[in-house]
This record gives sequence, C-alpha cells and structure tokens, in this order.
Amino acid sequence: MRLKNKDILGIAELTPEEITSILDRAKEMKKIVLGNSKKVHYLKGKTVLTLFYENSTRTRVSFELAGKYMSANTVNISASSSSVAKGETLIDTGKTLDAMGADVVVIRHGMSGAPHILARNIRASVINAGDGMHEHPTQALLDMYTIRERFGTLAGLKVAIIGDIYHSRVARSNIAGLVKMGSSPVVFGPTTLIPPEVEKMGAAVAPTIQAAVKNADVIMGLRMQLERQKKAYYPSLSEYTQFFGLVPSVMALAKPNAIWMHPGPVNRGVEMASTVIDGDRSVINEQVTNGVAIRMALLYMLTGRE
Ligand code: CP
Repeated sequence: MRLKNKDILGIAELTPEEITSILDRAKEMKKIVLGNSKKVHYLKGKTVLTLFYENSTRTRVSFELAGKYMSANTVNISASSSSVAKGETLIDTGKTLDAMGADVVVIRHGMSGAPHILARNIRASVINAGDGMHEHPTQALLDMYTIRERFGTLAGLKVAIIGDIYHSRVARSNIAGLVKMGSSPVVFGPTTLIPPEVEKMGAAVAPTIQAAVKNADVIMGLRMQLERQKKAYYPSLSEYTQFFGLVPSVMALAKPNAIWMHPGPVNRGVEMASTVIDGDRSVINEQVTNGVAIRMALLYMLTGRE
C-alpha cells in the first residue's frame, strides 16, 4: 500500500494498516540484509541525505547502509562540520539540500518538531530520525518488527518499558505504536521520570518494578539520558541501578519465552546488567539488524516504489 504522507514524522501520523505494510515490506528487505549479495537496484538514481544535529551510531549508519544496499546516492551531513555551524537556518539548509536534488532527507535534531518544520518547507520526503523528547518513529517500527517477528503478532502482548520515560522519544513512539497495534504497554521508572501523558497515550503505569515485568512478553530497558537531564531526577546512578536496574532476578518474573530489548546505546550495568544484555533472551543485536530492514522499507516506500 502507498503511505498517505510524503514524510515519516511520527508513529502518531501512521495508521495501523500503514504500520503493518511497513513491517511486511521490511520482512522482504531483511532477506537482502541477511543475503550474501547486499545490492539491489530499487533506489538507483535516488538521493538520500542524512542530516544529524545529534550523535548517532545505529540510526545514521543503518540509514546509510539501507540506501547503499538499494543503490541510492547517499551523503551524510554532520551539523558540526556543515554551514549550520556558520549560522545557517534549518529551513535554508533544507532548501539547499532540496536544490541539490535530494529525494529523502533523514534528520535527527535536539528540538522537538524540527523535522516537521523541515517537511513543510522542502519538496523531498523527510524522515524523523529522532526529535528532542518527542518521537523516534523508525526505532519504534524496528522494535515492533522485532516483537512481531518473535511472537507472530503484536496484539495482546504485555510490553514492559522500564526507565527514563520522561526524556525518551523511543518510549513515546513505542507506546503510540504498540497501542495502535493492540499490545498493552506498561511503564515503570522513578516517579520523577514518568510523565503524566503516558497514561493518556494508553500505557499503564505500574506501582512496582515487579508488577511491571510480571508475566511480560517483552521487557524493554531505556537508557538513562544523562545528556538531557538538566536537573537531578535521581540521587545517583548506583541508586538508580539498585531500584530500577534490569537484573536477572527481575527478568525472572517475565513469561518463560519473554524477550529483552534495548534501543541502545546501553549504559552497561546501569539500566541493564551485562548478563541480561548478553544473555540468550536478549534481542538487542537483532533489533540493530532489523533497523536496516525497516529503514530500507521506508526509503523504498517513500520514493514511490509502492
Ligand atoms: N537507538 C538509537 O537511536 O541509537 P543511535 O543514537 O546510536 O542512533
């Protein structure tokens, strides 16, 4: 099916049918990611630019690989080494990229809504690769893909999301997507890091970590976003780990076939124990692989292949 908008700005704008269609297309793309010859010509002649105003490993590299695997022209622009550093506005930067023939601009920005401003002002499709504390739609899509791949469905699953919900665009996008797809997200973390809007979005707030993870199908840890914390939300990281850390004794309360997820990067031993990260029920590396497949699907669909 064709996506109704020219851009991917948030899970909030996608219908359940569009999400299903993206996940189905990603399933085909994953065969290419896992194949011996990672080269198809679906995006031959198309140009994909990544414009990152914040640091990234997974998202930026996976968009670049997604474009390259499909034969697109790909260019990475780091804000710190571009004319942004000379004072150029976001809109002027976008119009410049448009004038060079960009078909898709992938943007990560510290300000919520920056991708939306760009999308309104340029002809190219815009993909939000994370905007402030608002949304990270491609992360949620790869997370939903990973869950659906394991359980065959998203409907009826209990997904426990633990940690710094307040600063997490990953949590907001996942809650929006999981609710649309019929899962039951449950959140838990320090009360200072649980924003009231999550209940309005359809997530339950658990009273204890045990209640959050009990009989969960999925436990998703979130990074303590120390770079976004302008004031003290928690006395110390060691106390955070003591009361909110995802350690084996906590994970044991989940269902016997439950999986452990984390969007990365992980603060090892802070929000999640190393034995959990590296254990056989962790799908963290699978999430990374699926991230390439999801981004291939989005580039394919936005450039008019379907
Ligand atoms: N999960 C995620 O967005 O990781 P990066 O910051 O490495 O892109």
